[in-house]
Amino acid sequence: MNLPLPSLIALSVALLSPLTSHAADEGMAAAGRQLFNHHCTACHSLDTSQNAFGPSLVGVLGRPAASVPRFAYSKAMQASGLSWNEDNLRKWISDNEALVPGTRMRHVSITDKAEQDYLISFLRTL
Ligand code: HEC
Repeated sequence: MNLPLPSLIALSVALLSPLTSHAADEGMAAAGRQLFNHHCTACHSLDTSQNAFGPSLVGVLGRPAASVPRFAYSKAMQASGLSWNEDNLRKWISDNEALVPGTRMRHVSITDKAEQDYLISFLRTL
């Protein structure tokens, strides 16, 4: 078997703790943390008081786009009218430039549905 690390973590948690959806959620979030470290931390800090190159993502689930104070969002993001629900986050991480043409965020393309699930469950814990 040659699975990427986040899948392995989620898989082993799922195998070790059958039927406890709480543990499964934690496994998903742990896998998501790995993905986040790999793809997102370069620009997004997990410290609430800090905007890095990208805005803080603490509490991002459910919040309107471009709503972090003191972060210089692109005009495109400010005008997007989006709210970060699960659906929009999925679109954003699979092809952010398609969702918000003209965004300042470098292109990311996480198209694997399971990886998207892991990342979103991690973002939910922030
Ligand atoms: C190269 C730097 C960079 C990387 C890597 C990056 N981002 Fe971003 N991100 C940004 C910038 C810059 C913005 C602001 C975009 C704008 O204003 O157009 C942003 C905005 C966002 C927003 C909108 C936040 C808001 O307050 O409206 C979300 C959600 C987001 N990023 C998630 C992610 C996730 C998840 C990853 C990893 C898969 C990621 N980003 C990787 C730089 C980055």
